[in-house]
Amino acid sequence: MTKPIRAGDSPIRVEVEAGKSYFWCTCGQSSKQPFCDGSHKETSFSPMK
Ligand code: FES
Repeated sequence: MTKPIRAGDSPIRVEVEAGKSYFWCTCGQSSKQPFCDGSHKETSFSPMK
């Protein structure tokens, strides 16, 4: 996989906590969008902290 897949066409509202780290999915394969679930493991992508 050299190109990310489109995860969706709509914004995703999430609740976040101050001081906590989050990992955004850059590959588009996560089933927990917009966050990484580890599905990128066989690709050249990695999540953005
Ligand atoms: S699942 Fe997409 S970056 Fe981890």
